[in-house]
Amino acid sequence: MNIKYKLDKIIYQVSFCRNTEKQNISKEIEKLKSDKNILLIYDNKISKKIVEQVFDDLKFSGCKIFTLKSKGDKKNKNEKFLFQIIDFLIREKFTKKSIIISLGGGVVGDVSALASSLYLRGLIYFYVPSTITSIVDSCIGGKTAINYKGITNSVGTYYHPKNVFILEDIFQNIPNREFNAGIAEVIKCGVIDNKKILNFLIINKDKIFKRDYKTIVNLCKKTLQSKIKFFKKDIHENKKRLFLNFGHTFAHAIEMATEINFKKDFIRHGEAVGLGMLSEIYYENRSKGKIFNLVKNLLEIYNLPTKLDISKIKINKTELLNTIYKNLFLDKKKIDKYPRYISIKKIGFPKVKEIKDFDFINDTILNVLF
Ligand SMILES: NC(=O)c1ccc[n+]([C@@H]2O[C@H](COP(=O)([O-])OP(=O)(O)OC[C@H]3O[C@@H](n4cnc5c(N)ncnc54)[C@H](O)[C@@H]3O)[C@@H](O)[C@H]2O)c1
Repeated sequence: MNIKYKLDKIIYQVSFCRNTEKQNISKEIEKLKSDKNILLIYDNKISKKIVEQVFDDLKFSGCKIFTLKSKGDKKNKNEKFLFQIIDFLIREKFTKKSIIISLGGGVVGDVSALASSLYLRGLIYFYVPSTITSIVDSCIGGKTAINYKGITNSVGTYYHPKNVFILEDIFQNIPNREFNAGIAEVIKCGVIDNKKILNFLIINKDKIFKRDYKTIVNLCKKTLQSKIKFFKKDIHENKKRLFLNFGHTFAHAIEMATEINFKKDFIRHGEAVGLGMLSEIYYENRSKGKIFNLVKNLLEIYNLPTKLDISKIKINKTELLNTIYKNLFLDKKKIDKYPRYISIKKIGFPKVKEIKDFDFINDTILNVLF
């Protein structure tokens, strides 16, 4: 059960690996000309059983395997983690033909991919995503990054994992919060691309909650195929790929504003994307309407926040409003002085627009987030 796509004449592959299929990763390694050195970078919250499963698979490749235990969570998406990886590669004399395999969520994945692209200007990179956000979104498209100077994803490159392996066991092991947070990116693809994804989320909610393998794989495939359509011919985000940022202008502003206190776990990326989508729909239409209610309903079904619960962090409401406002202007899609956002007037018909009505930013924050 694989998805293949071609970029610049190179074929990339996402494999859904059943427990019964063994040595999926080592079989792909054998097809490459590598120097037989592997660095496995894994998230410390992943169950021991899964880490061992990957390790056992890699042993069949006959390679020398090094491991690096690391931490997920946005506060670790930084230069310290990046250089920890690079220092390791230098110390162990890795070459351009060595392999990095990351096993983790979007944070471990984004930083490992950035290190893979920077060290000797690029070595071989594979990814085993371990959260729904990373399975349906960050495992493809090639965006790598760290957060630097308080700015989300301010330093990064484009570098694609040659192979992505989605393990059957991972789905049963993802904590509920990580599971739900990833559904926000699925809703995003449904809104910008295909109402069928939204209907699928509604009709199959019980099976999805039970983590029925076939249903979830079907959902992941629909979402990945939708994402591929948007980035395949626009890697550097000049046209169609921009639509994948629906909800992200506000989401990143929220994430940056609530991270100042370094309150770990306050908001997951996917949770912020949910709030960001509501904010952008509200800003576009100057009111809550049919699409707003559809997205809000889906967020509620999947236990995702539809308001910012600031009682959990020590921050004054006005201060938070002002910081979110200010952060919107750090938008990376900005090409002029105005931040850009994705406007949705009809499901499946996104447009890129600028945020020019500054007064309505405050209205949006007050009416949607608080
Ligand atoms: N590159 C891209 O295209 C892209 C797309 C979407 C998101 N992102 C980035 O991804 C990050 C968010 O991803 P995320 O939500 O996966 O965050 P994450 O990697 O921080 O994972 C969330 C939490 O789950 C834990 N975790 C991961 N896998 C686990 C498992 N199997 N079992 C138990 N715990 C597990 C992590 O330690 C962390 O505490 C953000 O930094 C965002 O910018 C990148």
